[in-house]
Amino acid sequence: MKVIAHRGASAYAPENTMSAFKKAISMGAGGIELDVQLSRDGRVVVIHDEKVDRTSDGKGWVKDFDLIDLKALDFGSWFGQEYAGERIPVLEEVLDLLKDWDGLLNIEIKNGLIIYPGIEEKVAELIKKYDFVNRVIISSFNHYSLVEMKRILPQVKTGILYMAGLYEPWEYAKRIKAYALHPAYYNVVPEIMEGCIKHGVAVNPFTVDHPDLIRKMAAAGVSGIITNVPDVAIKILEEM
Ligand code: G3P
Ligand code: MG
Repeated sequence: MKVIAHRGASAYAPENTMSAFKKAISMGAGGIELDVQLSRDGRVVVIHDEKVDRTSDGKGWVKDFDLIDLKALDFGSWFGQEYAGERIPVLEEVLDLLKDWDGLLNIEIKNGLIIYPGIEEKVAELIKKYDFVNRVIISSFNHYSLVEMKRILPQVKTGILYMAGLYEPWEYAKRIKAYALHPAYYNVVPEIMEGCIKHGVAVNPFTVDHPDLIRKMAAAGVSGIITNVPDVAIKILEEM
Protein backbone atom coordinates (compact mmCIF):
# COMPACT_ATOMS: atom_id res chain seq x y z
CA MET A 1 0.00 0.00 0.00
CA LYS A 2 1.47 3.29 -1.11
CA VAL A 3 1.55 6.09 1.46
CA ILE A 4 0.72 9.30 -0.40
CA ALA A 5 1.38 12.53 1.51
CA HIS A 6 -1.71 14.77 1.24
CA ARG A 7 -0.64 18.30 0.20
CA GLY A 8 2.82 17.10 1.29
CA ALA A 9 3.36 16.10 4.92
CA SER A 10 0.73 18.68 5.77
CA ALA A 11 0.31 17.78 9.44
CA TYR A 12 3.90 18.94 10.00
CA ALA A 13 4.52 21.79 7.55
CA PRO A 14 2.31 24.29 5.72
CA GLU A 15 0.30 22.39 3.07
CA ASN A 16 1.32 22.51 -0.59
CA THR A 17 4.69 24.15 0.08
CA MET A 18 8.21 23.03 -0.69
CA SER A 19 8.74 22.42 3.05
CA ALA A 20 5.76 20.05 3.14
CA PHE A 21 7.03 18.15 0.07
CA LYS A 22 10.59 17.90 1.42
CA LYS A 23 9.20 16.63 4.73
CA ALA A 24 7.16 13.97 2.93
CA ILE A 25 10.29 12.78 1.10
CA SER A 26 12.37 12.70 4.29
CA MET A 27 9.64 10.68 6.05
CA GLY A 28 9.84 8.10 3.28
CA ALA A 29 6.41 8.66 1.71
CA GLY A 30 5.88 6.63 -1.45
CA GLY A 31 3.82 9.37 -3.01
CA ILE A 32 2.88 13.04 -2.80
CA GLU A 33 -0.49 14.63 -3.55
CA LEU A 34 -0.79 18.32 -4.41
CA ASP A 35 -3.46 20.65 -5.78
CA VAL A 36 -3.08 22.97 -8.77
CA GLN A 37 -4.89 26.09 -10.01
CA LEU A 38 -4.05 28.90 -12.44
CA SER A 39 -2.86 32.41 -11.68
CA ARG A 40 -4.21 35.38 -13.68
CA ASP A 41 -1.19 35.21 -15.97
CA GLY A 42 -1.81 31.50 -16.61
CA ARG A 43 0.85 29.89 -14.40
CA VAL A 44 0.16 26.51 -12.77
CA VAL A 45 0.36 27.21 -9.03
CA VAL A 46 0.23 24.74 -6.17
CA ILE A 47 -2.55 25.65 -3.74
CA HIS A 48 -5.67 23.95 -2.40
CA ASP A 49 -8.20 26.75 -1.91
CA GLU A 50 -9.50 28.95 -4.72
CA LYS A 51 -8.69 31.91 -2.44
CA VAL A 52 -5.39 32.72 -0.75
CA ASP A 53 -7.02 33.84 2.50
CA ARG A 54 -6.68 30.69 4.66
CA THR A 55 -3.06 29.82 3.88
CA SER A 56 -1.39 33.20 3.31
CA ASP A 57 -1.28 36.76 4.55
CA GLY A 58 -3.20 37.94 1.47
CA LYS A 59 -6.82 38.05 0.46
CA GLY A 60 -8.61 37.24 -2.76
CA TRP A 61 -9.00 34.71 -5.55
CA VAL A 62 -5.95 32.92 -6.94
CA LYS A 63 -7.29 33.66 -10.46
CA ASP A 64 -7.06 37.41 -9.81
CA PHE A 65 -3.34 37.41 -8.92
CA ASP A 66 -0.41 37.39 -11.33
CA LEU A 67 2.31 34.96 -10.23
CA ILE A 68 4.62 37.77 -9.15
CA ASP A 69 1.98 39.01 -6.70
CA LEU A 70 1.21 35.50 -5.39
CA LYS A 71 4.95 35.07 -4.83
CA ALA A 72 4.98 38.19 -2.62
CA LEU A 73 2.60 36.51 -0.13
CA ASP A 74 3.66 34.58 2.96
CA PHE A 75 2.29 31.02 2.82
CA GLY A 76 4.04 29.82 5.97
CA SER A 77 3.28 32.07 8.95
CA TRP A 78 -0.34 30.88 9.33
CA PHE A 79 1.08 27.43 10.14
CA GLY A 80 3.99 28.44 12.36
CA GLN A 81 6.54 31.22 12.69
CA GLU A 82 9.36 28.86 11.72
CA TYR A 83 7.78 28.76 8.24
CA ALA A 84 7.48 32.54 7.83
CA GLY A 85 8.24 33.60 4.28
CA GLU A 86 7.35 30.28 2.67
CA ARG A 87 6.31 30.96 -0.94
CA ILE A 88 3.62 29.44 -3.12
CA PRO A 89 5.29 26.94 -5.48
CA VAL A 90 4.63 26.75 -9.20
CA LEU A 91 4.23 23.17 -10.41
CA GLU A 92 7.58 23.41 -12.23
CA GLU A 93 9.44 23.98 -8.97
CA VAL A 94 7.90 20.86 -7.45
CA LEU A 95 8.66 18.75 -10.54
CA ASP A 96 12.23 19.97 -10.34
CA LEU A 97 12.43 19.09 -6.63
CA LEU A 98 11.04 15.60 -7.27
CA LYS A 99 12.96 14.75 -10.44
CA ASP A 100 15.45 12.46 -8.69
CA TRP A 101 12.92 11.01 -6.23
CA ASP A 102 11.32 7.73 -7.24
CA GLY A 103 7.85 8.19 -5.74
CA LEU A 104 4.43 8.73 -7.27
CA LEU A 105 3.15 12.25 -7.84
CA ASN A 106 -0.62 12.77 -7.63
CA ILE A 107 -1.55 16.09 -9.22
CA GLU A 108 -5.09 17.12 -8.33
CA ILE A 109 -6.51 19.59 -10.82
CA LYS A 110 -8.83 22.00 -9.02
CA ASN A 111 -11.41 22.92 -11.64
CA GLY A 112 -14.75 23.17 -9.88
CA LEU A 113 -15.70 26.30 -7.99
CA ILE A 114 -13.53 28.20 -10.47
CA ILE A 115 -13.14 26.79 -13.97
CA TYR A 116 -9.64 27.24 -15.41
CA PRO A 117 -9.86 26.78 -19.18
CA GLY A 118 -6.74 25.12 -20.54
CA ILE A 119 -5.34 23.95 -17.20
CA GLU A 120 -5.13 20.33 -18.43
CA GLU A 121 -3.02 21.33 -21.44
CA LYS A 122 -0.63 23.31 -19.22
CA VAL A 123 -0.24 20.44 -16.74
CA ALA A 124 0.32 18.02 -19.64
CA GLU A 125 3.06 20.24 -21.09
CA LEU A 126 4.86 20.43 -17.74
CA ILE A 127 4.76 16.72 -16.99
CA LYS A 128 6.06 16.02 -20.49
CA LYS A 129 8.84 18.60 -20.10
CA TYR A 130 9.99 17.10 -16.78
CA ASP A 131 9.47 13.48 -17.88
CA PHE A 132 6.80 12.73 -15.29
CA VAL A 133 4.17 11.26 -17.61
CA ASN A 134 4.75 7.71 -16.37
CA ARG A 135 4.97 8.58 -12.68
CA VAL A 136 1.92 10.76 -12.13
CA ILE A 137 -1.73 10.18 -11.39
CA ILE A 138 -3.87 13.13 -12.42
CA SER A 139 -6.96 13.35 -10.24
CA SER A 140 -9.90 15.73 -10.06
CA PHE A 141 -13.41 16.05 -8.71
CA ASN A 142 -14.12 17.46 -12.18
CA HIS A 143 -14.18 14.32 -14.30
CA TYR A 144 -14.34 16.33 -17.53
CA SER A 145 -10.78 17.37 -16.66
CA LEU A 146 -9.77 13.71 -16.44
CA VAL A 147 -11.29 12.92 -19.84
CA GLU A 148 -9.55 15.98 -21.27
CA MET A 149 -6.20 14.83 -19.83
CA LYS A 150 -6.64 11.40 -21.44
CA ARG A 151 -7.45 13.10 -24.75
CA ILE A 152 -4.26 15.18 -24.57
CA LEU A 153 -2.02 12.43 -23.15
CA PRO A 154 -3.61 8.99 -23.59
CA GLN A 155 -0.88 7.21 -21.60
CA VAL A 156 -1.34 9.29 -18.44
CA LYS A 157 -3.00 7.66 -15.42
CA THR A 158 -6.09 9.36 -14.00
CA GLY A 159 -7.88 9.00 -10.67
CA ILE A 160 -11.57 9.75 -10.10
CA LEU A 161 -12.11 11.83 -6.95
CA TYR A 162 -15.56 11.50 -5.40
CA MET A 163 -17.51 11.58 -2.16
CA ALA A 164 -20.86 9.95 -3.04
CA GLY A 165 -21.80 6.28 -2.81
CA LEU A 166 -21.40 5.58 -6.52
CA TYR A 167 -22.89 2.38 -7.89
CA GLU A 168 -20.33 -0.01 -9.43
CA PRO A 169 -17.80 2.80 -9.91
CA TRP A 170 -15.31 0.45 -11.63
CA GLU A 171 -17.67 0.51 -14.63
CA TYR A 172 -17.49 4.28 -14.69
CA ALA A 173 -13.70 4.12 -14.31
CA LYS A 174 -13.47 1.87 -17.37
CA ARG A 175 -15.86 4.16 -19.30
CA ILE A 176 -13.57 7.18 -18.84
CA LYS A 177 -10.37 5.10 -18.98
CA ALA A 178 -9.38 6.01 -15.43
CA TYR A 179 -6.63 4.04 -13.72
CA ALA A 180 -7.92 4.55 -10.19
CA LEU A 181 -10.75 5.61 -7.92
CA HIS A 182 -9.86 8.24 -5.32
CA PRO A 183 -12.89 8.00 -3.02
CA ALA A 184 -13.55 9.56 0.37
CA TYR A 185 -12.41 6.74 2.69
CA TYR A 186 -15.91 5.81 3.87
CA ASN A 187 -16.69 4.51 0.36
CA VAL A 188 -14.14 1.73 0.79
CA VAL A 189 -16.57 -1.16 1.43
CA PRO A 190 -16.14 -4.84 0.52
CA GLU A 191 -18.32 -4.82 -2.63
CA ILE A 192 -16.39 -1.85 -4.05
CA MET A 193 -13.03 -3.47 -3.28
CA GLU A 194 -14.15 -6.77 -4.83
CA GLY A 195 -15.37 -5.08 -8.01
CA CYS A 196 -12.27 -2.90 -8.35
CA ILE A 197 -9.83 -5.75 -7.77
CA LYS A 198 -11.72 -7.96 -10.25
CA HIS A 199 -11.71 -5.23 -12.90
CA GLY A 200 -8.15 -4.02 -12.27
CA VAL A 201 -9.05 -0.57 -10.98
CA ALA A 202 -6.76 0.85 -8.27
CA VAL A 203 -8.30 2.43 -5.15
CA ASN A 204 -6.56 5.30 -3.33
CA PRO A 205 -8.87 6.73 -0.62
CA PHE A 206 -8.49 10.10 1.13
CA THR A 207 -7.94 11.43 3.82
CA VAL A 208 -6.79 8.54 5.97
CA ASP A 209 -5.15 9.79 9.16
CA HIS A 210 -6.46 7.84 12.16
CA PRO A 211 -4.39 4.74 12.99
CA ASP A 212 -7.51 2.52 13.09
CA LEU A 213 -8.53 3.78 9.68
CA ILE A 214 -5.05 3.27 8.26
CA ARG A 215 -5.13 -0.37 9.45
CA LYS A 216 -8.64 -0.83 8.07
CA MET A 217 -7.67 0.49 4.62
CA ALA A 218 -4.57 -1.72 4.51
CA ALA A 219 -6.66 -4.76 5.45
CA ALA A 220 -9.23 -3.87 2.76
CA GLY A 221 -6.50 -4.10 0.12
CA VAL A 222 -6.44 -0.54 -1.21
CA SER A 223 -3.53 0.38 -3.51
CA GLY A 224 -2.65 3.51 -1.57
CA ILE A 225 -3.87 5.96 1.04
CA ILE A 226 -3.75 9.73 0.86
CA THR A 227 -2.77 10.95 4.34
CA ASN A 228 -1.63 14.04 6.22
CA VAL A 229 0.53 11.84 8.49
CA PRO A 230 2.78 9.72 6.25
CA ASP A 231 5.09 8.89 9.18
CA VAL A 232 2.22 7.38 11.17
CA ALA A 233 1.05 5.32 8.19
CA ILE A 234 4.56 4.03 7.40
CA LYS A 235 5.05 2.96 11.02
CA ILE A 236 1.72 1.14 11.11
CA LEU A 237 2.49 -0.70 7.88
CA GLU A 238 5.86 -1.78 9.24
CA GLU A 239 4.12 -3.26 12.28
CA MET A 240 1.41 -5.10 10.34
O1 G3P B 1 -6.80 14.07 -3.56
C1 G3P B 1 -7.37 13.78 -2.33
C2 G3P B 1 -7.83 15.01 -1.64
O2 G3P B 1 -6.82 15.98 -1.74
C3 G3P B 1 -9.10 15.55 -2.20
O3 G3P B 1 -9.64 16.57 -1.45
O4 G3P B 1 -10.09 18.89 -0.84
O5 G3P B 1 -8.09 17.74 0.11
O6 G3P B 1 -8.14 18.41 -2.29
P1 G3P B 1 -8.94 17.94 -1.12
MG1 MG C 1 -6.28 17.56 -3.03
